[in-house]
Amino acid sequence: MALLTGSNKIKTAVFISGKGSNLRSLIKFTKTIKSPISIELIISDNLKAKGLKYGKIFRIKKKIFNFKNKKFTENKLISTLKNNEIKIICLAGFMQILSKSFIKRFKGKILNIHPSLLPKYKGLNTHKRALNDNEKYSGCTVHFVNTKLDSGKIILQKKVKILKNETENSLAKKILVEEHKLYPKAILKIFSL
Ligand code: GRF
Repeated sequence: MALLTGSNKIKTAVFISGKGSNLRSLIKFTKTIKSPISIELIISDNLKAKGLKYGKIFRIKKKIFNFKNKKFTENKLISTLKNNEIKIICLAGFMQILSKSFIKRFKGKILNIHPSLLPKYKGLNTHKRALNDNEKYSGCTVHFVNTKLDSGKIILQKKVKILKNETENSLAKKILVEEHKLYPKAILKIFSL
């Protein structure tokens, strides 16, 4: 794909619930000329998500949605995405499970990053489970989101060696560093076909 510039970039929303370090790395990526996407919107289910600060720092619109009534909230969310002409959704530490109908509506347009070598260790506590199983390697995966948890088509993975004396914390840190590189790479991969 030829380089996309300015307003031709693919309008993207990033969904977060916490720290937002992947959001930050995606924002940095969008500042590079090779980025095919621009981040127009940050969505969070958590008013206290630390990552929301990046909305302020980088002047990106942010919206908080309370997911207690999922159906109602997703309808509002869909309108917001439409109004902002969002074409791609990047989940980055977003802790809600989106409904099947929401996912179907955005089929092939939702990406997620997961801190394990999928299909191993879907769901939560990935590092703890990998260590308990005495795995030699773990890593991270960027994949398309389908209606089954952490099961959509894999776009890219990065393997990380688990050292002796590795802790959940040290492994999480090491993998996060790789996540920050992998997400932009995965975006480049899918848009350069
Ligand atoms: C990352 O490890 C990501 O893989 C997982 O949640 C974490 C989010 O971290 N889905 P951050 O909020 O991007 O710092």
